[in-house]
This record gives sequence, C-alpha cells and structure tokens, in this order.
Amino acid sequence: MTFHLLMTRQLLHLILKMKTTKLMERIKSKIKNLSSKYMLLPFLFLTTPLAAQTESSTGISQTTAFYVVIGLLIIVSLLVILLAFNIVSLLKAVVQKEMSPEKKASMEKEPSWFAKTWAKWNDLKPLEEEQDIMLDHDYDGIKELDNHLPPWWKALFYLSIVYAVIYLMVFHVFKSAPLQEEEYEIEMALAQAAKSNMEQTIVVDFDESNVPFNDDAEALADGKKFFEAQCGMCHKADGGGLAGPNLTDDYWKHGGSMTDIYNVIKNGVPNTAMISWESKLNPIRLQNVASYVKSLRGTNPPGALPPDGELYVEESNQ
Ligand code: HEC
Repeated sequence: MTFHLLMTRQLLHLILKMKTTKLMERIKSKIKNLSSKYMLLPFLFLTTPLAAQTESSTGISQTTAFYVVIGLLIIVSLLVILLAFNIVSLLKAVVQKEMSPEKKASMEKEPSWFAKTWAKWNDLKPLEEEQDIMLDHDYDGIKELDNHLPPWWKALFYLSIVYAVIYLMVFHVFKSAPLQEEEYEIEMALAQAAKSNMEQTIVVDFDESNVPFNDDAEALADGKKFFEAQCGMCHKADGGGLAGPNLTDDYWKHGGSMTDIYNVIKNGVPNTAMISWESKLNPIRLQNVASYVKSLRGTNPPGALPPDGELYVEESNQ
C-alpha cells in the first residue's frame, strides 16, 4: 500500500516536473522517431489490395475496402500499443533514476507482472521441486511427471462447456436463431423472390390508389412467406411488432386500409427504417404481402407491441 502511494507520488511529482525537464522533449522526439518509422506501414498495406484489384475498374470493392479498413485498424492499434510500451519504459527509467539504491534493488527482485501471470496460468512446478511429482514410471530412462493440467487449458475447457450450453439453448431449446438448414431455406426463398421479381415487368391494372385485397389462399401464403423472411426482423414474424409497429391491431400510423398499407410498403416512410420495397417486390407480390398484412388484423399474437398511431375504422368490406 505504502509502496503504491509512494509510486503515485513519485509519478505525480514527475509529471509536474516534466514541463521543466527535458523528458517531454525526449518523449516527443521518441514519438516522432517511431511514427516516422511506422507511418509508412499502412501505405504498404494499402497498395497491395489496390494492385490486386481486378473486379471493377471503377474503384475498390466493398470487401476490399472492408479488409483495408480492418488492416489499418490493426496497424494503428499495434502502433498505439508500441507507443504505450515505449512511454512506459521511458517513465520507468526516469522513476528508477530518482530512486534510492535499496529501493531499486528490491524492485528488481520482484518478478514482472507478465512473469507472474505466465507462472500463474501455467502452474508448472519449478525445476527444483520436480522430484515431488515424479511418477515411478521409467521407460528406458524416460520418466514421467504428474503435472497439473495448466489453468489456461482448464479455462478453455470450461469456456467451451459454457459455449456449448449457450449454443444448445439458442439453437435447439429456444430456437431463436435458424439452424443451417433453415438458413438455407430462407436464403433460397429470398433468391426465389429476387428471381421472380426479375422475370419481366408485370403489368397490373391497379396501383396504390385502388389496389384490391386478395383473399386467395395461395396469394396470402405467398405474402406470408415473404413477410416472415423480409419484414419479420422488424415487425416480428407474427406481425406483433419489434423495431417496427404492431401490424395486427386497429391502430395505424399511416392508415389501415388496403391502399394505405400497400402505399407504405411500396413507397416506405421517409426518414424511418421502413424503406420503399418497390424495387424488391413486383406489384403482384406487393399486393400479396399487403393482403397478408391486412389479414393479420385481430390475430392478437402473444407479446405484441402496444397500439401506436390512430384508431382505424374499416370503411367498407375491403
Ligand atoms: C428495418 C426495419 C423494417 C423492415 C425490414 C420493415 N419495416 Fe415496416 N416499418 C418499420 C418502421 C420503423 C415503421 C414505422 C414508420 C413510422 O414511424 O412511421 C414501419 C411501418 C410499417 C407499416 C405502417 C404501420 C402503421 O402503423 O401505419 C407497415 C404496413 C409496414 N411497416 C409493413 C412492412 C412490410 C410488409 C415489410 C416487409 C416487406 C416491412 N414493413 C419491413 C420498420 C421496418
């Protein structure tokens, strides 16, 4: 305790003195030195992906940019760590200079933090005490020690058990994330949707001013499939609402008629997470999804969000 207090006082004392001593200058020049030495590194990394760029002539692809940024981040963090080590060693040298010889000797005797941690996580018997754990196995002079399992190994082992439990809960008990097969199904459904969207422009005789509700079971099933895959992340697969509002009650922010719903899905709500889906959905599927949303009314899913917006009263039998 007193040692720590002393150290803190010494450090404070030192920092106060810094302005007047040459230490500041030394640290500065050290930093300058270091940075000029390592500053070139990022550019080296930057040029590699640029040279390897073949996919497009218009610029760096997103993946490349991602790796460049990650690479730069790693380099900068390494630089910062290097600098920190340099500064610490400098400070240490200065602090030790001002210490009495006895203190210095006692400090040198104490193992470093790293050495202590290393010893703790390996838990090896020192060479001199190995006799205590020597087994009486002897194979042509090759003997065996009865060492403990190293604590780092045990820690990894326990961690893997914890991970396994979490994995089991997430994927098999609560099923809160899709398994590989379901993930595959979802992706296939998305690809299918994208494909059918690309097949020639579909001419329809309605738009957001007069789109009719389609109660055809096949249309609703198609809308449901798309809704669960694409809209569920914000409105919940059952429409109860998460980041986006509840779509199963009688309260709507933008109106609850078929045309209102179709309009919101087609054009989105500016400056909210509700984007325009026009480019991703052909009009038929848009009508199917809107019809499905409309059909959710009064389903009362468990855990739904409270009402948001204004009460919408059905005008006709739409
Ligand atoms: C990224 C999140 C997100 C996704 C994905 C999303 N929505 Fe929304 N949605 C919202 C938010 C947020 C609002 C509320 C906008 C506002 O504040 O006006 C909203 C509003 C709506 C509304 C109007 C609700 C009302 O009260 O008037 C409808 C209808 C709707 N979404 C349907 C859909 C459908 C259908 C899809 C899938 C094609 C979808 N949303 C996908 C976030 C999302």
